[in-house]
Amino acid sequence: MIEVNINGAARQLEVDGNTPLLWVLRDTLGLKGTRYGCGMGLCGACTVHYDGMAVRSCVLPVSACVGVKIVTIEHLDHPVQDAWIDHQVPQCGYCQSGQIMAAAALLNQNPRPTDDDINAGVTNLCRCATYHRIRRAIHACAGEMAKPPPEPAPVPEAPAAPVEVK
Ligand code: FES
Ligand code: FES
Repeated sequence: MIEVNINGAARQLEVDGNTPLLWVLRDTLGLKGTRYGCGMGLCGACTVHYDGMAVRSCVLPVSACVGVKIVTIEHLDHPVQDAWIDHQVPQCGYCQSGQIMAAAALLNQNPRPTDDDINAGVTNLCRCATYHRIRRAIHACAGEMAKPPPEPAPVPEAPAAPVEVK
């Protein structure tokens, strides 16, 4: 029995500790948003967050996930997801959950990445070559994240006390 925190919940898993996390996510827990591409740590389709870092779950034994927080695309809540929609990044979509997980982890570590930072930090492959839209969405999200929060609405003044007429 192995206990792993996945998407905010402790999950007790009856699996061999050498089983890749990707297999556990997809086959044991039914979390199919994390994709299987190469199975060799090369393409990034299987990217999840491991205590906030982007990792490739196809080459990560589930025993290495004890005591850390694993987050998958199903539980991600990050402004880069809105940028992905605004910029219509996906084409076929197969690689996109991994791309989004990698982009979110990059932005959390580096809120103003350059193109070179993006190329170095998001090394996931995309057979549809959506790389230019990926970069555009990451830059747009970085711009939004850099904006100051909106000013709080002014508190309305209390109405003047009625004047007593004698
Ligand atoms: S499926 Fe994990 S890197 Fe390709
Ligand atoms: S959108 Fe098709 S593989 Fe990336």
